[in-house]
Amino acid sequence: MDRTAQLTSRAAQHPVAYDPPPAPTALHVRAGRVLEENWTGASTVPSRSLYPHQWSWDSAFIAIGLRHLSPLRAQTELETLLAAQWEDGRIPHIVFNPSVPLDAYFPSPDFWRSSTAGRAAGAPRTVQTSGIVQPPVHALAAWLVHRADPGLSRARGFLTRVHPRLAAWHRYLLHRRDLGGGGLASVVHPWEQGMDNSPCWDAPLSRVTPAPSRSFRRADLAHGAPEDRPTDLDYGRYVRLATDYRDAGYADDGGGFAVEDPAFNALLIASEHALARIAAELGAPGTARHARAERLTTALVDRLWDAPTGMFLCRDLGSGALVPERSVSGLVPLLLPGLPHDIVQTLVRTLHGPHFGLGATTRLPPSYDLLGEAFDPHRYWRGPAWFNTSWLLERGLRTHGEEQSADALREAVLDIADASGFAEYVDPYTGEPCGALGFGWTAALALDLLHSRPGHDVSPTGVETFEMSDKGGDRA
Ligand code: SER
Repeated sequence: MDRTAQLTSRAAQHPVAYDPPPAPTALHVRAGRVLEENWTGASTVPSRSLYPHQWSWDSAFIAIGLRHLSPLRAQTELETLLAAQWEDGRIPHIVFNPSVPLDAYFPSPDFWRSSTAGRAAGAPRTVQTSGIVQPPVHALAAWLVHRADPGLSRARGFLTRVHPRLAAWHRYLLHRRDLGGGGLASVVHPWEQGMDNSPCWDAPLSRVTPAPSRSFRRADLAHGAPEDRPTDLDYGRYVRLATDYRDAGYADDGGGFAVEDPAFNALLIASEHALARIAAELGAPGTARHARAERLTTALVDRLWDAPTGMFLCRDLGSGALVPERSVSGLVPLLLPGLPHDIVQTLVRTLHGPHFGLGATTRLPPSYDLLGEAFDPHRYWRGPAWFNTSWLLERGLRTHGEEQSADALREAVLDIADASGFAEYVDPYTGEPCGALGFGWTAALALDLLHSRPGHDVSPTGVETFEMSDKGGDRA
């Protein structure tokens, strides 16, 4: 039996255990149902219609919620993804399900050609993947999944098996992707950062010649409203960048797009701290890794903090300059415990100020500046509020003792996730659902916040999640 089949059969023997949450609610049941419906036997699709394969950062966020329903399934989710890791350490952003028809999603495996074009970079032979990456939420997810059921995790050797893969993944990002030479990881495609059509990419993307529209056929418009999705011009540029990267054998020697992004790097730092805790759990000292995470935090501040706007910005390595656009990505470093106090205070002010309006004009943080010229409340990452960034900011606010704001944001995530039918994203003013419904990470992260009730933190998440120290035992 191959590895995936083994995982599948083990997960199948272990039915979903609805461990009683602090108080069983209808939301808990409905969120669980979404995760059940999106489960394929070895992993979870973000959406049955729009995204019918396994996505990298989706799976990490999904595992964080899934651990409350079935720690085994959550472990399996991450193991399935990690089984598709390339030998150079990259974790591909999509792992394709061979039973899904090629035309169900674009770009499909025959576009990426991982097993041939990715051979020099060590792409796996038995599974088809994309060749780009997504934000490194995985070590953080693995640590949280372990904490949900340390006994099961130890019995299965979960951390022992995932640790080397996670370490190789971080090595890839820190060594092969430090394209700016300042210690931060760069993304080479907007899909890598995850916020595909953010206005932050408009300037760097304007230098990319779009692939002719007749050279490819989008599949997303069959499932998503065109006004909620990126434009054809965006897609032309996405395709050009991905084609050029593929045709260069997925070598990281600089292409037409390279950006240092605050959220991507903040997640890498949070995951470095998590990896240090994983190493400590396995009996190795995590001190060096914590120190590296602190150095990365210093690099993040040095290279991407912008005092006049009161937030972090992206750095376009093509021009060398910061991109003067306010994206929610620039607030995500709030989740880092080691951030200087004055920066924390400024970020909290910016989050609640007119550009993001949290608690004033919005209940969930918009993906882009409410006052920005490019703001569009419905179009993917150009304004709508998303649940993963809301979860990260809730965790960040709580990490820094902003309990009242964290409580309000938590309530908003729970209300709006449920009321919207677990939408992929929502209008930040009205909560109107956009994109796909029954979206995996929306259900998973609502479930996670449901389990981390203020004052009743019986889950192993809690504020200690983002602490740098190795203290803390098993609380599950
Ligand atoms: N988010 C991209 C899509 O819309 C791919 O990662 O397909």
